[in-house]
Amino acid sequence: MAPNESAGTPTAIGIDIGGTGIKGAPVDVARGELTAERVRVLTPSPATPEAVSKTVTEVVSNFDTVGPIGITMPAVVRAGVVETAANIDPAWIGVDATALFGGALSREVMVMNDADAAGLAEMKFGAGLGRTGSVVVVTLGTGIGSAVFADGILLPNTELGHLPLNGQDAEEWAADSVRDRDDLSWKHWAQRLEEYFSLLESLLWPELIIVGGGVSKKAEKFLPRINIRTPIVAAQLQNEAGIIGAALHAAQS
Ligand code: BGC
Repeated sequence: MAPNESAGTPTAIGIDIGGTGIKGAPVDVARGELTAERVRVLTPSPATPEAVSKTVTEVVSNFDTVGPIGITMPAVVRAGVVETAANIDPAWIGVDATALFGGALSREVMVMNDADAAGLAEMKFGAGLGRTGSVVVVTLGTGIGSAVFADGILLPNTELGHLPLNGQDAEEWAADSVRDRDDLSWKHWAQRLEEYFSLLESLLWPELIIVGGGVSKKAEKFLPRINIRTPIVAAQLQNEAGIIGAALHAAQS
């Protein structure tokens, strides 16, 4: 379906499903800007497919925008089906999320991984604008998400937050939620991040690493302490990247 162009503005709705909140807004996909205030509703607990689908419907009901709806999940989403559940209810594994949300909303929907969506938005409207070659976007939040681009083309579902590091899953050691939980100083956390980004660098040798997630608002506290050979910069769209990327993807599909 083509995005809604009736008002002269190509719009789609973006919904970002996270562990604590489900956020959404209509997006001008030509400019990468929200066209109405973002709505945030707490993620239901337990976050079963049925409960989340009800909350997504509630968020969407705030907007009168027609056109497609892009939805992100903090999980591998292959051809609309959720394949993993590192930070979501295990009941999601094997669920056809496109069919579930599409049925609940009676609208065309496109479901994708959250970091992939944030990465798409950064490449089109943020820190990756105009960048060719190999670029990796890493989101630091409850978990660690990744989006890998070659000449602007996304290789979906890369899951680099689960690289093994110091005998555990990297995100269990270096995610922003770990900094918070263990009350790590910025310096201590930056040391962990430096190890993580060095590992990522040694495997992929990207030309640029973009660091996103809510904590990228405070990038000056940790990015300058990360010494690796690859240029590493803060994302520009921060909290809105997932919403914008999801809408963009839905509008382009
Ligand atoms: C998940 C990824 C997700 C990331 C960020 C990880 O635990 O496996 O799919 O992108 O968290 O939410």
